[in-house]
Amino acid sequence: MADLFSSLQLRDVSIRNRIAISAMCMYSAHEGEASDFHLAHYGRFGLGGAGLVMIEATAVLPEGRISHGDLGLWSDRHIEPLARIVRLLKSQGATVGIQLCHSGRKANRQRPWHGNGPVGDEDQTLRGEATWPIKAPSAIAFGREYQVPTETTYRDMADIREAFVAAVERANLAGFDIVELHAAHGFLLHSFMSPLTNLRSDAYSGSFEGRHRYALEVVGDMRAAWPRERPMFVRVSAQDGVEGGRTLADTVAFAQALKAAGVDVIDCSSGGLAGHSASTSRDAPSYGFQIPYAQAVRSEADIATMAVGLITEPELANAAIAEGRTDLVAIGRQALFDPNWPLHAEAALGVADDSNPYASWPVQYGWWLNGRHKTLASLRSSPPEPGRLPERNTL
Ligand SMILES: Cc1cc2nc3c(=O)[nH]c(=O)nc-3n(C[C@H](O)[C@H](O)[C@H](O)COP(=O)(O)O)c2cc1C
Repeated sequence: MADLFSSLQLRDVSIRNRIAISAMCMYSAHEGEASDFHLAHYGRFGLGGAGLVMIEATAVLPEGRISHGDLGLWSDRHIEPLARIVRLLKSQGATVGIQLCHSGRKANRQRPWHGNGPVGDEDQTLRGEATWPIKAPSAIAFGREYQVPTETTYRDMADIREAFVAAVERANLAGFDIVELHAAHGFLLHSFMSPLTNLRSDAYSGSFEGRHRYALEVVGDMRAAWPRERPMFVRVSAQDGVEGGRTLADTVAFAQALKAAGVDVIDCSSGGLAGHSASTSRDAPSYGFQIPYAQAVRSEADIATMAVGLITEPELANAAIAEGRTDLVAIGRQALFDPNWPLHAEAALGVADDSNPYASWPVQYGWWLNGRHKTLASLRSSPPEPGRLPERNTL
């Protein structure tokens, strides 16, 4: 039995294996509402054997969206389309989480396929996508061509806290097993935590305690609103990767505070405060390049972690779990390439039983694929006819 396929118990939730599908915005919602596309998209990961499926960054307020296509949970009308996805995934044995987010100064961004830059006049003309006023701890734009945010007032900060709580309550009504707070990638909470983006002179700035105060207040509110028996995750950028930014030592100290606040898992990404997020940057240094962050947080803050970033090979994923470097591995783009990645990993690691190799596949497929497996095995024993290629993509 490969460690990657051992179950993980978090509070009253048992995750069937250590493979999570990482939160990935699909930029395909209308006014925050999940569509049939989302149902099909997420459903594939449930059928594909993932232990945990984390629904993409979901805005707690309309102005907290990254783009016009973000999912939202600021209204009761968002609950049922998400509940439909939850029901489908649970029927396939997956655990389901939702990542709650406020985009802060990184709002008003184009969908990647519309340019991946700040929304401009052309987006307004072509698609009627107007910009909205944005807020951040300090009035510093994300980049030269980006909108300058206004500094959040205490009233704004209280309203946003309330919005996170309301979204948690709706996530509960939708049936989610896990809520994750997005405190990474330069969005609102991360921008409070980094000395580069927080130049305030009040109690929410300056020292480590000051910079992390607001995120911890939000976490406290969310934890109080989320059922005690269900786990809560926080995604962090383990380090900013920019001169003068947050460091891994900050993240370890933050993780200790999160643990004390009742958080169960730290989801360790990096970057995103300025320029590209390291997690999706094209020049990421190597396979599994963020696993060392998860390892450091796990060992130094004594809390469960999730590792993410270019984990594409089953052997690497399994070793990360077996060696105790992390508790969960999150698969992002590789799962877009292959939604059946967990099932394929099971075969690659020799977990599947050769007499019944498709036992973990949806029952609707397994019987047929087992029969096909035997047919292909006998075909393999005889040489292929001249000019014909043997079957590919088989076990
Ligand atoms: C299409 C896409 C959308 C993403 N959206 C989110 C998101 O909603 N929340 C988040 O925390 N990270 C998001 N990310 C980052 C991924 O969760 C992940 O950390 C990153 O892609 C690195 O993992 P990978 O190399 O396995 O893709 C997104 C990445 C991609 C490719």
